[in-house]
Amino acid sequence: MIEPRPGRPRRRRTFRPSHDTRLAHGPPIQVRAPSSRRAYSVQQTGPRRGAGVRDRRTVNAQRVVVGGNRYVPRVPALRTAELFSGIGGFRLAADAAGAETVWANDSSRDACLVYADRFGSTALVEGDLRDHKNGVASHDLLTAGFPCQPFSSAGKKRGVRDPRGTLFAELAEIIAEHRPKFFVLENVKRLLSMEQGAHFATILDAFTALDYAVEWRLLNACDFGLPQNRQRIFLAGIRRDLSDGIPRLLSKADLATLSPESRASLDGRLIWTPLSSHRSRFPAWGLASGHAFVAENPRIFSDRVAPSPLRDVLLSDVDPVFDFTASTIDRIAESVSINSMRQGVEVLSNQDGGARMGYTVYGTAGLAPTLTCTASRHYERYRIGEQYRRLTHVEYARIQGFRDDHCGAVPYGRQYVLYGNAVPPPMADWVLRSVLALSDDAIDHANADETLQLAT
Ligand SMILES: C[S@@+](CC[C@H](N)C(=O)[O-])C[C@H]1O[C@@H](n2cnc3c(N)ncnc32)[C@H](O)[C@@H]1O
Repeated sequence: MIEPRPGRPRRRRTFRPSHDTRLAHGPPIQVRAPSSRRAYSVQQTGPRRGAGVRDRRTVNAQRVVVGGNRYVPRVPALRTAELFSGIGGFRLAADAAGAETVWANDSSRDACLVYADRFGSTALVEGDLRDHKNGVASHDLLTAGFPCQPFSSAGKKRGVRDPRGTLFAELAEIIAEHRPKFFVLENVKRLLSMEQGAHFATILDAFTALDYAVEWRLLNACDFGLPQNRQRIFLAGIRRDLSDGIPRLLSKADLATLSPESRASLDGRLIWTPLSSHRSRFPAWGLASGHAFVAENPRIFSDRVAPSPLRDVLLSDVDPVFDFTASTIDRIAESVSINSMRQGVEVLSNQDGGARMGYTVYGTAGLAPTLTCTASRHYERYRIGEQYRRLTHVEYARIQGFRDDHCGAVPYGRQYVLYGNAVPPPMADWVLRSVLALSDDAIDHANADETLQLAT
């Protein structure tokens, strides 16, 4: 494991694109961890997974007692900046963790209308991040569901791995400038595989060059009790002077199922793989530091909360405005019956029997397919009871883990894109808890503030 360097003076670093880093041109780097550290042999002292691991780390909040339960007081809270804030999926998780959001930014008018309606406009800055990056408030935690913009589009002349001019570069510059203790990022699954992993390697390399340990994990919304097959990659950065090298996105039970090689790497007995030598899709979990990484596909997700079927969150008596058009119904009459479960999604029929062909009609016994920002009657078709219709905006909210009226500040037709783009709050919540090492009973609970008493 890469040894953290406590007491090291804080350095300001400027983000440099990968052609300046060792990923592109430097010699391969061998990283060896000190053999004294046993990442996966930590005693678990609490009832919840990983609680022992996490409790002995740094949640610098005093424990307080409210009616016999323990809470973390809101003050002093982690100051949080939420980039690409959308409708505040990360904001809900940060609020639940007792963090104080001091700066949020998004360029979408509708997203900002919703955000201001739900959380107030004090911290919110509407506009292009590139125009506001100099105004980002000082923060300890940065969260961002950053747009997945291929580096190649901005850097054609400079090679496909050059992130200059992209929103990722802006994000990395803000992290280099503010050096938050933690950052949590979310993106689409294909980030792991784009350009045979080169894109993701560049991202990891950029953050490790800024002296962060970066852990990632591919998670699915359906493992957080939500009726949706939605895989998203989360990256958690911990500033190296704070990092103990223990994975936070794997429970103790998950860790125990890693291969002997990965465990030996975490334990410091094996050399990590240089990022510069990786040439393929990255596995679903990994940890990178010092331009090298260890990674594999975990076999379990022990914190899994089983989802309810889609039918359990659907409304009855839905307005006919959500029904298929007559021409769609005619086309469906020519469809081929499928009637099978694909990745947990019930597929009833489609046009020529393929898995992803046009005019697919979904059932409600399983999960919803990934909700997207292109929702319309032309793409999302469900048979719900006797009705053929698309999902309503309220059903979108539920499937994504928001309250029914979260986007009530904008007309219903404009809510789909906002929900489709959002990070599901239950996923963000799990990741933030894990990264901040908060155990269940340390999470802020509604209305607890007035009655806080210091524990003795
Ligand atoms: C994947 S979504 C993030 C959604 C958010 N995590 C949520 O829970 O709603 C990306 C967001 O980035 C915003 N965005 C795209 N380009 C931007 C830019 N140049 N400056 C600021 N925001 C931008 C979009 O409007 C969108 O809301």
